[in-house]
This record gives sequence, structure tokens and C-alpha cells, in this order.
Amino acid sequence: MWSAKNITYPAVEKYLYAITPKSDPVLYEMERYAYKRDIPIVGPTVGRLLYLLAQISGAKRIFEMGSAIGYSTLWFAMGAGSAAEVHYADGSVDNAARAQEYFRRAGLADRIRIHLGMAQEKLAETPGEFDIIFIDVDKPQYPETLRLAVPRVRAGGLLLTDNTLWSGRATRKAPRGDARTRGIQQFNRAAYAAKDLFTVMIPIRDGVTICRKL
Ligand SMILES: C[S@@+](CC[C@H](N)C(=O)[O-])C[C@H]1O[C@@H](n2cnc3c(N)ncnc32)[C@H](O)[C@@H]1O
Repeated sequence: MWSAKNITYPAVEKYLYAITPKSDPVLYEMERYAYKRDIPIVGPTVGRLLYLLAQISGAKRIFEMGSAIGYSTLWFAMGAGSAAEVHYADGSVDNAARAQEYFRRAGLADRIRIHLGMAQEKLAETPGEFDIIFIDVDKPQYPETLRLAVPRVRAGGLLLTDNTLWSGRATRKAPRGDARTRGIQQFNRAAYAAKDLFTVMIPIRDGVTICRKL
């Protein structure tokens, strides 16, 4: 049955996770580590989507904003292939150190650049356009991050954003002081209203928004 906390029927969610093949060993270890420590990674269903989008779009430059232990970064790096450069950006020293070790063990460290600090500043400091930018920073920052990221995606490129349904809270009036839900709602309205984006929201896991830059 529909539950206010689930975006899809729990049975659909369960089926999707059950039918999804087990991830590669390093990714699987990261999934277990994140589960035990309650680190909010995208998980295998969204990870596979990121991989697929990187692969079918032929992305060669990817910038990720909010990378934690590097789980989504690794999916991008695998999908984009050996000619790609993937930029990891996170504000936590511990996360970056752990991510670096996972990248080394996955044999993909040479295609990933680690930026430590505010992702918005790191994006501004990194020249050039990107084929894909992925937004997964703190939710009150979403509207401003959208504003900063769109000009940095090449025409025809993709802006991807996680958590855009926010456990279904995006669908309801945000309580006063709930800056995270408000940030996501503002982001969603702006992404659909933008004349230079073609936007589609996919209701898997916590909602993933795919915008193609026109
Ligand atoms: C949801 S987690 C990222 C999960 C990751 N994308 C994945 O799926 O594997 C969000 C991370 O972003 C970091 N973060 C939040 N806002 C940030 C910002 N403005 N700049 C850099 N890191 C940020 C937090 O430290 C946290 O590790």
C-alpha cells in the first residue's frame, strides 16, 4: 500500500532492489559500509542509472557536487570509461580519504580528481564545461547550486540531481523552518521552468532529476 514515506509502493521498491544484480565488489563493500554508518549514498538502482547515463551520453568530463565516500563517483567513473575525467567534491576530509582508498582499490584512481571543500567553490575553480554535473549537496543549497551549475554544463550535456522527491516531502507544503524541503521544492520548480533545460524527474529511490541543457 502507498505510504506517505515511500515514493513508490514498498512492494515495487522491494522488487526493484531484489532484481538488481549485486554490485561490483568495491561498490558492494561501500554499500555495506554506508548502510552500517547511515551514510546517504544513491544505492545500486540510482548508481546504475548514473552509469548508464554516463555511458550512453559519451561523457568525458563529469563534476560531482557532494560525493561522500565516492560511491556515486565510482559508478560515473565506471560508466564513462578510461578516457573520462570525473571530479569528486566533498567538504569532509575523512570522506575524501576513504573515497581515495576505494578509488585505488577499484583501479580507477587515475580517472578521478578529488576536490576537498565547498563543491560550489571547487566547481568555480575548475575551468571548462562539463558533459555531466551531478548535484547531491545539502538540500537548502539546491537552488543556488542549480544557478551556479547550469552555465557550466555544455549544450546537450546533463545536469543530474538526487533526492528531488525527498521521501515524498517535496509533494507537500513544507513546514515552516524546513529549509531542506523548501530548497528541493524551489529547485524542482526552477528546473522545470528553466528555458535552457529539458527536465524529467524519475521516481526511483528518493527521486532523481535529469535535465538536458538545451
Ligand atoms: C548525500 S551525500 C553524497 C552521497 C554521494 N553522492 C553518493 O551517492 O555516493 C552528501 C555529501 O555532500 C557533502 N556536502 C554537502 N554539501 C556540500 C557542499 N556544499 N560542498 C561539498 N560537500 C558537501 C556532505 O559532506 C556529504 O558527504
